[in-house]
Amino acid sequence: MHILSSEQFTPEMLGDIFMLADEFREQVADQDLRHEIATLHEDEFLVNLFYAASTRTRLSFDFAAQRLGMNVVGTENAEQFSSAAKGETLEHSIKVLAEYGPSVIVLRHKATGAAAQAAEASEVPIFNAGDGNGEHPTQALLDAHTIYNERQTLSGLHVVFGGDLARGRTARSLVKVLSMYPDNRYTFTSTPELAMRDDVKNLLTERGVPFTESEDPEEAFGDADVVYWTRLQKERPLDELGADGQPVMVEEQDPRFILGKTALEILPKESMIMHPMPIDGEIDPVVDADPRARYFRQAGNGMYVRMALIHLVLSGTFPN
Ligand code: CP
Repeated sequence: MHILSSEQFTPEMLGDIFMLADEFREQVADQDLRHEIATLHEDEFLVNLFYAASTRTRLSFDFAAQRLGMNVVGTENAEQFSSAAKGETLEHSIKVLAEYGPSVIVLRHKATGAAAQAAEASEVPIFNAGDGNGEHPTQALLDAHTIYNERQTLSGLHVVFGGDLARGRTARSLVKVLSMYPDNRYTFTSTPELAMRDDVKNLLTERGVPFTESEDPEEAFGDADVVYWTRLQKERPLDELGADGQPVMVEEQDPRFILGKTALEILPKESMIMHPMPIDGEIDPVVDADPRARYFRQAGNGMYVRMALIHLVLSGTFPN
């Protein structure tokens, strides 16, 4: 089973993943149980194949796999230090890796659709760890898990997504996950060129999920349950070409989309501020100390959710 898109999950599957992630959290905290789970996937290998930069995803997969007893091999800069630099196709690299007998390949790539392309060539499960402006499904699961653990529900929420919604694959994936639950509504706030793209908005319309778009983030904050903020993805262009036929880069941070003291004054006391991280100036450091800031805990949840995913896929017990 490949993990390519957040659309492949159902609420039942998420329930199982969350429950197992919470069990793993308890087991990791207990010395005896920690040793027990470190035998679950002994002698198996996880490959971390990263063609684009990462801290959290790569290292949390690394920790997750090792906590399950797996060996981890990989490259953190495959673009430069793998045979991709000599012109090898992704398909050939994946087929060669499969010859070594790994149980799972975790792939990050700058090209949208690269994970699906790799999966076509692979008998080994491919986990999409972020493909260009496409998706980041395991991030969406850990984001949803963070919300669930805090709110005990994934329904009836007003979620404000802000920042770079055109290239922000984590927001795209989380919207899709939350749209499976009833009575949620969204506000998408960004500059027009970084607005949420039509494929996601069309999906929401099909599913009858209400959303509004705004260039004024503060007007949505007053009754927000969750604020999900994102940085400018300066490392890659928009998917659409400009009028001159050239890739469009957006690199200037609009100051209206820096979350700071004003947002803290407007946001409800019980709301949560999330961010997939890294943060690159779009959240003022003053927010870090606010009790509504959840992004460090959110990142921490990543390891447990990824342990659960690896275990469910490798043990063949993934719920259908
Ligand atoms: N959230 C996330 O994908 O972070 P990294 O780029 O550090 O993996």
